[in-house]
Amino acid sequence: MAHPAAVPVLTIDGPSGSGKGTISRLVAERLGWRLLDSGALYRAVGYAAGEEGIDLSDAEAVTRCAQTVKIRFQASPDGGETRVLVNGHDATDELRTETAGAAASAIAVIPSVRQALVDLQHGFRKAPGLVADGRDMGTVIFPDAAHKFFLTASAAERAKRRYKQLKDKGLSVTLTILQREIEARDERDASRPVAPLKPAEGAVVIDTTGMPIETVVEKVFAVVRP
Ligand code: DC
Repeated sequence: MAHPAAVPVLTIDGPSGSGKGTISRLVAERLGWRLLDSGALYRAVGYAAGEEGIDLSDAEAVTRCAQTVKIRFQASPDGGETRVLVNGHDATDELRTETAGAAASAIAVIPSVRQALVDLQHGFRKAPGLVADGRDMGTVIFPDAAHKFFLTASAAERAKRRYKQLKDKGLSVTLTILQREIEARDERDASRPVAPLKPAEGAVVIDTTGMPIETVVEKVFAVVRP
């Protein structure tokens, strides 16, 4: 078996609503590579901690939870969205809410929680390659990645995209509140001392404001050339 470090990685980091989730999935599909949705891991830890009645500011208890939680990604039998199982429970629907996003962002500031998820993330690096989606994929988790991207978009556009996503999934939200929540979350993700949200050195930065998904994918492949 190839040494994990020999397996190519492409990282896509950026704030929520930058389009990185969709782009990462499409790029992984086109390359035939595996996909790591690292945000789902932080969401799963926040969710599991909440289920256990843990106070999210209790760093020790949340860390214990991060070290022991069982997270499994399962392809949907009907070809739909990948299901995320947390301690055996299909928590896909709960994990995509803004509440879960805020909980994830809150526990993601705890260094020992981030540490607890490192090996799990490295484990996704398997042949023929990995597309890693998150906030610190290119800076901390896969610093040796062959290709690094950082997607951004204006706060207003990111809020609009998230609004549409959540509405499509039948969740009730208002645009103004959503934009405020997104800005607060990005501010926390970008200003934390450990693994803050920022472009990795050498990352290709793509501002996706007003850009159709296919154009963003083309921009990625203009650099990657499979
Ligand atoms: O990508 P997402 O919205 O599912 O991520 C949810 C939160 O998890 C995000 O606000 C910050 C945290 N996160 C992180 O700190 N590092 C990552 N690599 C991915 C997510």
